[in-house]
Amino acid sequence: MFLNAQTKADTARAEMEAHYDLEVSEAAMRDTADLYARVKDVIPEPDWMRFAPYVRAINKLKGEKDAVVLAHNYMTPEIFHGVSDVAGDSLQLAIEATKVRQQTIIQCGVHFMAETSKILNPQKTVLIPDSRAGCSLASSITAADIERMRADYPGAQVVSYVNTTAEVKAASDICCTSSNALAIVEAQPGDTVIMTPDGYLAQNVANQAKKRIVYWEGACIVHEQFTAEELRAYREAHPGVAIIAHPECPVEVVEEADFTGSTAGMIQWVKTNRPAKVVMVTECSMSDNVAAETPDVEFVRPCNICPHMKRISLENILWSLHSGTEEVTVPEEYLEPAARAVQRMIEVTNS
Ligand code: 13P
Ligand code: SF4
Repeated sequence: MFLNAQTKADTARAEMEAHYDLEVSEAAMRDTADLYARVKDVIPEPDWMRFAPYVRAINKLKGEKDAVVLAHNYMTPEIFHGVSDVAGDSLQLAIEATKVRQQTIIQCGVHFMAETSKILNPQKTVLIPDSRAGCSLASSITAADIERMRADYPGAQVVSYVNTTAEVKAASDICCTSSNALAIVEAQPGDTVIMTPDGYLAQNVANQAKKRIVYWEGACIVHEQFTAEELRAYREAHPGVAIIAHPECPVEVVEEADFTGSTAGMIQWVKTNRPAKVVMVTECSMSDNVAAETPDVEFVRPCNICPHMKRISLENILWSLHSGTEEVTVPEEYLEPAARAVQRMIEVTNS
């Protein structure tokens, strides 16, 4: 198995080397100088020297292949700042996916994000550089689980986080993301709402919502690791530090934070408030991406990595563009009901 994967990677590398100039060179540095200027505070020059030939090749190939790169805020800075056309949180990426004019979408993020793009653009080609990029939330629940919850709470609307498979979206009434969850829940008819699959997001929303929320107990492997004690230790070690947290964190962590929001909400908060020092209680790469644009802010970096997000690299983005792999498909029977659940979310968000 490992040998097979290694052989595939070696073959891909050899083919890419035959087609593109991937040697470290002064020319590649010159051609990417404007992009490096954006990230020089977070990427050391020797690292950028290795990235530059890939960044150059990807940006050229995108035009030739009529492709657009959508990147989540958790991508590493050489992807986020170097090759993405649109970067954002799950909601922004879903909305942008409905607007892109290119025929091919390269989704730099995890599989459920690529599925969402396909659901919203069934006629386009959606590629993910590594289809093994999953999500602990998406893999925690099935459509059969949703049906069981419906049976337990008859009449309650099912609000599913976008961090779900197309099958689960299709079994839900409406989707939500971390940036609109409260508004979506409040917009549902009835006193009780079923929220899946993130138990912490549901509890954090329940603390603000007027409705009763029953929920599935899935968790994000990155955010569930943070503790309130750890946040208090940051405050003690860095007096005056601002602490901002993602709502996938446990309730006591969110309660300890100064602000809670989606990844885009957290970025906006830092850009608007310009704290002298901040801790972003979320996946590691985000601090690097924001630090590149806010040199006046000092970032204390707790480092919890999402192993799924980190499967995406410049190398496999180039291979994906070059070879047209790995194509994301959604079974026909889920396309229409899943699109309805996502479109409803976009409509409520826009209203
Ligand atoms: P955002 O929608 O806030 O970007 O969150 C998506 C995600 O997977 C966070 O772990
Ligand atoms: Fe899933 Fe958490 Fe990784 Fe986001 S950070 S993709 S929620 S496992």
